[in-house]
Parts: sequence; C-alpha cells; structure tokens
Amino acid sequence: MLSWLPRKKSPESPASIDNAEDRHAAAASGERDTPSEPLLTVRGVERSFDVGGQKLRVLKGIDLKLYPKQLVMLKGRSGSGKTTLMNLMGGLDTPTAGEIFFQGRPLHKLDDNKRTEIRRRDIGFIFQAYALLPLLSAYENVELTLRMAGVPRSQWKKRITECLDMVGLSKRMHHRPSELSGGEQQRVAIAKAISHKPSLLLADEPTAELDSQMAAHIITVFRHIVETENVTICMTTHDLTILEVADHVYEMVDGVFVSK
Ligand SMILES: Nc1ncnc2c1ncn2[C@@H]1O[C@H](COP(=O)(O)OP(=O)(O)OP(=O)(O)O)[C@@H](O)[C@H]1O
Ligand SMILES: [Mg+2]
Repeated sequence: MLSWLPRKKSPESPASIDNAEDRHAAAASGERDTPSEPLLTVRGVERSFDVGGQKLRVLKGIDLKLYPKQLVMLKGRSGSGKTTLMNLMGGLDTPTAGEIFFQGRPLHKLDDNKRTEIRRRDIGFIFQAYALLPLLSAYENVELTLRMAGVPRSQWKKRITECLDMVGLSKRMHHRPSELSGGEQQRVAIAKAISHKPSLLLADEPTAELDSQMAAHIITVFRHIVETENVTICMTTHDLTILEVADHVYEMVDGVFVSK
C-alpha cells in the first residue's frame, strides 16, 4: 500500500498552461491574498541540435510555469525531449530560441559562469543515472554539494545528518555507493540534491530503476520535501501511479506539450 494520497485533480486539462496558471491562482487565492510569482518561467523555448550537418528540432515551442512548493511531473515517450527540457530549466544548456526566467533571472541570457553559480546555490539535480562519486561515502557525497554551494562549514554536519535522516539513511552514512543498494543510492542522490536548500529540484526519472515500493517511498520523501523545505520539484516519470500525486502533469509529444 502506498502511504501517500493522490492529489485532488482538477477537471480541466492538466497539460494546459493557462489552466495550470488558473488553478494555481485559484489555489493560492484561498491561502494568500495574492498569487505567488512563478519560480521558473519557460516561454516559447526551442532547442535544436546539429547532427551530421542537419538541424534536428527537439523542442518546438515550450511554455511552462513552476510555482513555489509544487510537485510537477513531466511525462512523454522516450526521445520526446524531456531531458533536453530539464537541462534547459536547470541552466545546464541554453535554448536555441525562447526565454527562461528563474527567480526573475534570465537564464537564457546569462553566461556559463553565472548559470553555474545559480545552479550550485539554488537548484538541485537528480540525474537519470545517479551521479554519486564512487570513492566518497554517502556523508561525503552530500558534503560536496554543501561545499560547492558555499554553505558555511559549521553547518555541514547538522544538515548532512538531517538530509540523510530524511531519506531514511542515517545508518548507512559511511557507506560508499558500491556498498549501497540501488534504492539507497538513489536516496543519497536525493539527500545530496536537497542539502543546500535549493528552490528548485529537477529530477530526471528518479524512480526508473526502483521497485514500486521504493518508488512510492521516494515520492513520499518528495512530498515531504515540498511541504517542509519550501522547494518545487519538477520530475520526469513514466509511472502512472506516481503521476497521480503530481500537482500538475505536463505531457510532451515530439517536442511540444499536448493537452490530454
Ligand atoms: N546533444 C544532443 N545532440 C543531438 N541530439 C540530441 C542531443 N540531446 C538530445 N538529442 C536528441 O533529442 C531527442 C530528445 O532527447 P531527450 O534525451 O530529451 O529525450 P527524453 O524524452 O528524455 O527521452 P527518455 O525518456 O528516453 O529519457 C532524442 O532524439 C535525442 O537523440
Ligand atoms: Mg530522458
């Protein structure tokens, strides 16, 4: 049994940008006086690659908004462009056309150094394959993120312990990745990605390699993080059960979002 409950679904299309905005504004108006500003805005984004002298159009005009404290999911067939979009949203890559604003800052215009700075401090990543350093323990892997983010050393121990505890790994702190199961490694990747308190966590297929029970556990952790850490999570998944808990689901088909 899954320990989380599906989010209440709106009758409107979850893939529609306007509807997503309306829903958010409606939800926000119940809790606050004014709707919050988007954390991330993607507007008219296109991404093409040159392959063998030919232009390959992968993203063909993407619009998306992420608001604070949301769990948003991206689904779509293999090759539809999900990872390409996640890389753009996290400032790892820049669009061929269109705009991306993160906390009001134009990621599409900033140079590599500035984007790296923003990434290190304000964004967490969980990649399709866990990106843990094999020679470092779980503890040291998390520590590295704090070091890179410029978090004062005096805060490291408390925060690392807290994050590993949050993902249920206090007892495996000093294990290296090879001494951990796949699910445990993925949970270290999550602890690492949230340790510096990013505003945005981008997770590319974080549950793909996991059995359904572990996948449900990871989603429980995600929900907890969204509620307690003031973070927005945008993740890709193919898992229909997991999609049920999203605040919004965007479906990508061949480089564009479609309404269901
Ligand atoms: N750097 C690149 N150069 C050329 N083509 C690329 C590059 N990156 C991605 N592509 C192409 O863009 C398309 C979309 O790739 P992407 O990785 O975004 O798909 P995806 O939706 O994440 O798929 P999956 O579900 O398999 O992870 C693919 O056809 C891929 O070959
Ligand atoms: Mg992908």
